[in-house]
Amino acid sequence: MIPLCVPEIRGNEWKYVKECLDTAWVSYAGGFVSLFEERFAAYIGADHAVATMNGTAALHLALVALGIGPGDEVIVPTLTFVAPVNAVTYTGATPVFVDAGERTWNMEVRLVEEKITGKTRAILPVHLYGHPVDLDPLLEIAGKYGLYIVEDASESLGAGYKGKSVGAVGDAGCFSFNANKLITTGGGGMLVTNNAALAEKARFLSSQAKVPGAAYFHPDIGYNYRMTNVQAAMGLAQLEQIEDYLKAKRANALLYDTQLAEVKGIVRPLEEDWAVHSYWLYSVLVDGCPLSRDELMMKLADAGIESRPFFLPIHSLPPYRDRHYGDFPAAGRLSAQGLNLPSSVGLKEEEILRVCRKLKELAG
Ligand SMILES: Cc1ncc(COP(=O)(O)O)c(C=O)c1O
Repeated sequence: MIPLCVPEIRGNEWKYVKECLDTAWVSYAGGFVSLFEERFAAYIGADHAVATMNGTAALHLALVALGIGPGDEVIVPTLTFVAPVNAVTYTGATPVFVDAGERTWNMEVRLVEEKITGKTRAILPVHLYGHPVDLDPLLEIAGKYGLYIVEDASESLGAGYKGKSVGAVGDAGCFSFNANKLITTGGGGMLVTNNAALAEKARFLSSQAKVPGAAYFHPDIGYNYRMTNVQAAMGLAQLEQIEDYLKAKRANALLYDTQLAEVKGIVRPLEEDWAVHSYWLYSVLVDGCPLSRDELMMKLADAGIESRPFFLPIHSLPPYRDRHYGDFPAAGRLSAQGLNLPSSVGLKEEEILRVCRKLKELAG
């Protein structure tokens, strides 16, 4: 089976994790957490980074630290993984959905302003599959209405927006390091920000609102969201190799692009001229193909090739579907046609050629 996306572990992971085990610094204390935070912040070009147990925790923490709660509204894309929308719901705020755009499949920024009400407090763009959201129009809207921007960059570490890293543009940026992400800590996440007070608040809330020097005095309701030393040890080793990983992802995408150029039923991903795509997942649309996306996935699986459908629009899921939000035609179409193809860093050229040969046979 050619898997969809598996971790690449070939650097200092064993050495750094062994150091945690040898010294017994396996939990929240120990040097790797702050080192990983420092190096990650430097890589992203943000002033502060707070490591968390996963990406969902980073998103929840960012929203809570910004003071978002019951009665507030947060604008989110409907075509996304469910985690950022759930993070809004955890705070007691209401997610307000926006349709997807046809070009990059991200939140359609032209549709955001009409969703703003007196209750809107933040916009939460999600950079899907490695391609950035067009952030400048969102920054303009945020400035006009006094809103926060929390970027969900979980799927797009290494992607760039007009010379900046995604995650470093808004008030806060959140990342995930689960097993299939560009770099992994097993499970883990990171919140980055240039706002020192926000970073301090997030750090405080992530450790049960603990006050240094005041044993068991907790002046706020905190969370146990910190990353462990073992996770951070692995993250540090992975981060050391990020440039190689990104090069491999781009090379994979280029090979897919050239091989699939003539396949009529497959629409390839684009990279806007203001963006640097990280190609976390090489994703296509199945459009005008004799088979449906799901039939194609089944045939690929029969040939030993793992693939994955795009997300279901979140407004259609049971916890969210009882409210009427409007129509989201683009998200519905993209969700039905979108397909993620094998994209591991360690994918071999002959494996990509095998996937493409099969796609040409089935969709050409
Ligand atoms: C867009 C997006 N946001 C958030 C998350 C949540 O990250 P985690 O699984 O680390 O909680 C993920 C991935 O899992 C994701 O794809």
